[in-house]
Amino acid sequence: MLKRSQLSDHTAEEQKFVFENSYGVVFVYDDEKIVGVARALSDGLMQAAIYNVALDEEYQGHGIGREMINRLVAQLKGQNIILYTHPQTVLMYEKFGFRRAKTALELFDAGEEELKWMDDTGFFLPEGFRFCDEYKREDMKGPKWQSK
Ligand SMILES: CC(C)(COP(=O)(O)OP(=O)(O)OC[C@H]1O[C@@H](n2cnc3c(N)ncnc32)[C@H](O)[C@@H]1OP(=O)(O)O)[C@@H](O)C(=O)NCCC(=O)NCCS
Repeated sequence: MLKRSQLSDHTAEEQKFVFENSYGVVFVYDDEKIVGVARALSDGLMQAAIYNVALDEEYQGHGIGREMINRLVAQLKGQNIILYTHPQTVLMYEKFGFRRAKTALELFDAGEEELKWMDDTGFFLPEGFRFCDEYKREDMKGPKWQSK
C-alpha cells in the first residue's frame, strides 16, 4: 500500500515490524484489503510523531483521510505531536490545526540520492536558511556565515 503511494520502498516485513512497534495505528479496510494506513510513535505520555499517512488514490477526496488523522490524533490525546509530510500536504495538515515549526530540525539517515530528491522536491529549507527575524542575530551565525 505504501509502495503504491510511493511513500516507502521498504519490504512488507519491514513495514510489519515498524507498524507493530508503533504506539498508535489506523488501518482502513475495503473488505479484506487494506486501502489506508497511518501510524504514530509515542513515549505514551508526552511526545508523539505521526508517520506513513496514506490512502489509496481511488478512495481519496471523500473525508477518509480526515477520519484517519482524527482517529490517530485521538489515540495521542494529551500529547504533543510532530510530523513530517510531503510538500504537497502541508496545507492539509494546517487545516487539521498543525502549525509549521520554525525550530524543527531533521537528520535523515538516507542516501545521497534520496536526500537530493528530498531537497529538489522541497522537503528542506535551503542549507543555512535563516528567517528574516533571525538572520542578523549573532547566535545564529554559523561558520558558513561568519566566513562571508
Ligand atoms: C493525504 C491523504 C491521506 C488525504 O486523504 P483524503 O481522504 O483524500 O482526504 P480528505 O478527503 O479526508 O480531506 C480532508 C481535508 O484535507 C484536504 N486535503 C486533502 N488532501 C490535500 C492536499 N494534498 N493539500 C491540501 N488539502 C488537502 C481536503 O480538501 C479536505 O479539506 P476540507 O475538509 O476543507 O474540504 C491522501 O490524499 C493520500 O494518501 N495522499 C497520498 C499520500 C500522502 O501524500 N500522504 C501524506 C504524506 S505522509
